[in-house]
Amino acid sequence: MTVGAHIAPIARSHIENADIVFFAGHPLMEMWVTEMNSNLHSLQVFYAEGKDRRITYKEMVNAMMTEVRAGKKVVGAFYGHPGVFALPPHNVIKIAKKEGYAAHMVPGISAEDCLYADLGVDPGKVGSQHFEASQFMFYQRQVDPSAYLILWQVGIAGDKSAAKFSTGKAYRQILVELLNENYPNEHKVALYECPTVAIREPRIEWITLGDFIEAELSLITTMLIPPSQKLLKNQSIIDRLALLEKNAH
Ligand SMILES: C[S@@+](CC[C@H](N)C(=O)[O-])C[C@H]1O[C@@H](n2cnc3c(N)ncnc32)[C@H](O)[C@@H]1O
Repeated sequence: MTVGAHIAPIARSHIENADIVFFAGHPLMEMWVTEMNSNLHSLQVFYAEGKDRRITYKEMVNAMMTEVRAGKKVVGAFYGHPGVFALPPHNVIKIAKKEGYAAHMVPGISAEDCLYADLGVDPGKVGSQHFEASQFMFYQRQVDPSAYLILWQVGIAGDKSAAKFSTGKAYRQILVELLNENYPNEHKVALYECPTVAIREPRIEWITLGDFIEAELSLITTMLIPPSQKLLKNQSIIDRLALLEKNAH
């Protein structure tokens, strides 16, 4: 997430010892990874506004698999955690294994991890639920308003084409109306962006849900929605557990 800071020693070691490294992330991160292995090929070249990301992801997988099939030791380095809200890393490992090659993922520090640290949120306090914003809109999901709700990719919320780099206010209006089923417009939400370089501060902007429609969003914005309801006791389970305790003595 942050250049020069967020990498596990095992991930660095794999990158340093690879024959070829494919990279997806910010140009500054790419420069950092190039210092670890100069045979780096950018996967960013496959992205283009107006191009279906599902095609982009297939092209990324094909580029990596071509080198695997040529017998090379290949690393796909993706910013954040490679397996969090990211399709190509999971797909390429699946395909490589199916073809008989040894392949595995090592974890990284995701946007979620940085969010917990920067916003001082413990996901275990009342529980947390994560959704990709568009999927949250396209499907009927059960929201628990007594837990944290974290929405990813809010900058492209509602994009059916999977080809946009941003969606507009009309899309966000629909998302807000959907959220209004559990959260009033005055409910405070946080827009979060972890900095790419350590000298920058994270973006932590507390706004009302209603103001989200006009908010400035980017491709890296994540939204945290704190609970709107208190935890409700499950008295029948509590009673059954109390009975167990009583019978044990
Ligand atoms: C395709 S996902 C990739 C997530 C990445 N694999 C990770 O582990 O964080 C992109 C989404 O992750 C979140 N994200 C990525 N970079 C971020 C950052 N610097 N700060 C906050 N959220 C970020 C945003 O919700 C963004 O729309």
